[in-house]
Amino acid sequence: MSEPVVEARDLQRVYAVRRGLFRAPAQLQAVGNISFTLERGRTLAVVGESGCGKSTLARMVALIEKPTAGTLTLVGADAVHPPPSRRRELRQAVQLVFQNPYGSLNPRKKISTVLEDPLAINTGLGKAERAAKARDMLARVGLRPEYANRYPHMFSGGQRQRIAIARALMLEPRLLVADEPVSALDVSIQAQVLNLLADLQAELGLSYLFISHDLGVVRHIAHEVLVMYLGHAVEQGPKARIFERPLHPYTQALLASTPGLAAERIVLKGELPSPLAPPSGCVFNTRCAHATDRCRSERPLPRLLDERRVACHHAEKFLSPVAPTTEVFPSAPARPQP
Ligand SMILES: Nc1ncnc2c1ncn2[C@@H]1O[C@H](COP(=O)(O)OP(=O)(O)OP(=O)(O)O)[C@@H](O)[C@H]1O
Ligand SMILES: [Mg+2]
Repeated sequence: MSEPVVEARDLQRVYAVRRGLFRAPAQLQAVGNISFTLERGRTLAVVGESGCGKSTLARMVALIEKPTAGTLTLVGADAVHPPPSRRRELRQAVQLVFQNPYGSLNPRKKISTVLEDPLAINTGLGKAERAAKARDMLARVGLRPEYANRYPHMFSGGQRQRIAIARALMLEPRLLVADEPVSALDVSIQAQVLNLLADLQAELGLSYLFISHDLGVVRHIAHEVLVMYLGHAVEQGPKARIFERPLHPYTQALLASTPGLAAERIVLKGELPSPLAPPSGCVFNTRCAHATDRCRSERPLPRLLDERRVACHHAEKFLSPVAPTTEVFPSAPARPQP
């Protein structure tokens, strides 16, 4: 298999947050120890509640922000300290699509300019070639080539998001980082844009880091899923495994809160703790119905279980139904075989 498009190891991002004139700035860990590998033509979906660090992770992978610690390799090159000879290549290899297609397109620029600008800045292509590429790309994202002469306000939300995707693809990136790309769209339009992303992936072999708080959307688009809580990865692995049998109580609660995905409803108790004062031990322990003393004192490290990585001391409990004795006496000696 070829080299992965992205390899992230123990990525962390800490912000210094000012708390007034006379107090020392507090340390806010927005992302703590996230690792993943993303192959060509695959989609990793990052899910979790508001404030859990999804956009911070997206900005680091899109090279907008440097990690505080950890390593990030993009198309085989060190993306944290890129060698000068590969800087331009790296900048072109990853492109971002944002949630709000209204804010991300300059209202004063015609679509032709929006699409041709990246080519004018980064390539030596002439005007006619740039115009031809822009028109091709419009067709590719399902828009009429003559729309190139229009301005962003003349389009619907879904069409604008198609234009934003077209712009991101002009430099033939290997990776799209999409931060809630369909969250601002109507449900019927969401499905069209998700289908477009899937078609483009099949056609061009693109990889996606797809940020979403909506597991219904994630189920459509993801190959792998990474569930974040307060900056930490609590569960990550193949979508099918995680949707079939979530092993982390937080993933279980997320799935249960998404209509149509789970029979049982689990209501999370308590409030999301402040990232300035995260709970000791397991970050989820203050809201977990299964928390024990160990969860309150010892942070569970991600470990491999049932084809995914899960950071929960008690994850075994949620594997297929187990005999009650196994659960109560985990270290009971095996019975002698008759
Ligand atoms: N530049 C910054 N300075 C200080 N704190 C920040 C900064 N950017 C993000 N944060 C904090 O880091 C944490 C993670 O924020 P982030 O925007 O990554 O979350 P998110 O999962 O994308 O949330 P949402 O779903 O609301 O978009 C939050 O507590 C946020 O307040
Ligand atoms: Mg965000």
